[in-house]
Amino acid sequence: MKEDVKEILLTAEEIQAKCAELGKQITQDYKGKELLLVSVLKGGVVVFSDLIRPIALARLIAFLVVGSYGKGGKTSGNVKVIKDLDINVADKDILIIEDILDSGITLQHLTVLLNARNPKSIRICTLLDKPERRMADIHSDYVGFVVPDEFLIGYGLDYAEKYRNLPYVGTLDPKVYE
Ligand code: IMP
Ligand code: MG
Repeated sequence: MKEDVKEILLTAEEIQAKCAELGKQITQDYKGKELLLVSVLKGGVVVFSDLIRPIALARLIAFLVVGSYGKGGKTSGNVKVIKDLDINVADKDILIIEDILDSGITLQHLTVLLNARNPKSIRICTLLDKPERRMADIHSDYVGFVVPDEFLIGYGLDYAEKYRNLPYVGTLDPKVYE
């Protein structure tokens, strides 16, 4: 697996330190609110599990599954909810935690969908932000790292469903897909 990684962009230590920092910030911002933490599976599960622990508030968690990308990593523009939340979001302060904000199409779709259920607020936290690729009019309220327009793997991010469990974020060696 390691031989498929061209370069390590963010080490496990850098990511952990950033999760602690973001967790502190979110704890401050949501004091006294009814926070619902939402994870988008599968990619978002790694950052979700690391980020919810440093959030020192009573909170609810919920998961949803959306249609995944193909091998090429390009969005189809057609986002499908495969498994919906099992919690009523009305009057809750929702924080969606995701691995990466790329074209933004997935998160824009989710925001529209959840907004229709009358939550008190919706914000987005993404470990990574790739602004160069943005197509939808959406931003992340809490960003860990701004990254260049390269195909990344690890820490939840996959290529053809592989590499999600790498503890760091790296670039994929082109020999894997050439
Ligand atoms: P988008 O913002 O709608 O384009 O989709 C974001 C989703 O695309 C993320 O949750 C990832 O699952 C996937 N994605 C975006 N960029 C990458 C990448 O560099 N490597 C792997 N998956 C990616
Ligand atoms: Mg994803």
